[in-house]
Amino acid sequence: MDRILVEGGVPLSGRVEISGAKNAALPIMAASLLTEEPLALDNVPDLADIGSMRRLLQQLGVEIRHPPARPKSLVLHCPEVLDTTAPYDIVRKMRASVLVLGPLVARAGRARVSLPGGCAIGPRPIDLHLEGLERMGAEIALEGGYVEARAPKGLRGARIRFPQPSVGATENLMMAASLARGETVIEEAAQEPEIVDLATCLVAMGARIEGAGTSTLRIEGVERLHAARHRILPDRIESGTYVMAAAITGGRLELRHARLDLFGAAAETLAEAGVRLEETEEGLRAERANDGLVGVDVRTLPFPGFATDLQAQFMALMCVAEGAAMITETIFENRFMHVPELMRMGARITVHGRTALVRGVPVLKGAPVMATDLRASVSLVLAALAAEGQTEINRIYHLDRGYERIEQKLAAVGARIERVP
Ligand code: EPZ
Repeated sequence: MDRILVEGGVPLSGRVEISGAKNAALPIMAASLLTEEPLALDNVPDLADIGSMRRLLQQLGVEIRHPPARPKSLVLHCPEVLDTTAPYDIVRKMRASVLVLGPLVARAGRARVSLPGGCAIGPRPIDLHLEGLERMGAEIALEGGYVEARAPKGLRGARIRFPQPSVGATENLMMAASLARGETVIEEAAQEPEIVDLATCLVAMGARIEGAGTSTLRIEGVERLHAARHRILPDRIESGTYVMAAAITGGRLELRHARLDLFGAAAETLAEAGVRLEETEEGLRAERANDGLVGVDVRTLPFPGFATDLQAQFMALMCVAEGAAMITETIFENRFMHVPELMRMGARITVHGRTALVRGVPVLKGAPVMATDLRASVSLVLAALAAEGQTEINRIYHLDRGYERIEQKLAAVGARIERVP
């Protein structure tokens, strides 16, 4: 098991290249199933999850290759669907595998997808995905831990209203509706930038979609989709993570390709907490404001609210802020596993249900800690960068799922960080 060692206390300074968004690339790769023509993608991040999606899609009949000398580009081509099963051993490792469900039913008339099962941050059911497909005419059966979905006569447009926004369900149903007969309306749709990016790519492929980025999506189904080329948008969660790395170490970072408009409510929350964010012609500049970090309350919410994927990182920042911060996680049931690890480093945090109260301390102390999920593991890296002494972070395979070359990017801006086998 790889570990990461960090010697904290160095203010970071320099430039970080922000990669393409993992949570846009995953659904957009699945969209390649919707057409028999090639889909060319640029700015694809090099992450473990992207590798998992590649292997799954290749099993289903998608040929995937890098264009010569373009390591960040992929061409995905599915002339014919060869298999319609997403097996348990792949889905249990990466929930986003469920995003092949809608495209398979739309393109091949059937799919057999393992139920994802829970994960560290909560049960994460897919009932909204399945109810939506049923309303579009699919027959859904659950057997042996698998969803069997069939639509032998194709899908038809439907009116769907979610009880609460779901990113994955919005993506699955938007892709399925692109090839359905008639119009589909999705109300209470997720509004994340990754939804907009998927819609932009689908429209480039010939889909007819209106309202992406708002709570109501209208999709007019078409006969078929065609070849397209799409550039994945920058990763707003990676951007937010490096903004907080600059702030927590008292440094200053230039984040190339980062976009402030992708931050939603996090932009003002970070400003209130004492993080200076400035747009530059190549992206964003981030540093700690002169009068230091202050405790700010935050509730995670669907976009444009404060992103749940930035909650753990923000908690690390609040651990060394002046005053207290009340952090409420409204999206997932169990997304505070970074708390006991941060406390091992001297943080003062108390958790009551979905709310954590953080009381800032002058300094954290390095300690051996354990990563539990993707965003929790990066909050430990942030804390380690600010802590006195050495921190050893175990189980960092979680990090590799969502952060491209994180120790290289951090070392390049001054962090004393190394990966040890
Ligand atoms: C996506 O997960 C992201 N993953 C998550 O990022 C992100 O935290 C989440 O959206 C934010 O909402 C990808 O895009 C690959 P949801 P997703 O459906 O689609 C409940 C990361 O770190 N729900 O929006 O799985 C669900 O249990 C990951 O990159 C149902 O009840 O999230 C959760 O409480 C972590 N029934 C809430 O809705 C359903 O059918 C939001 O889930 C679907 C979801």
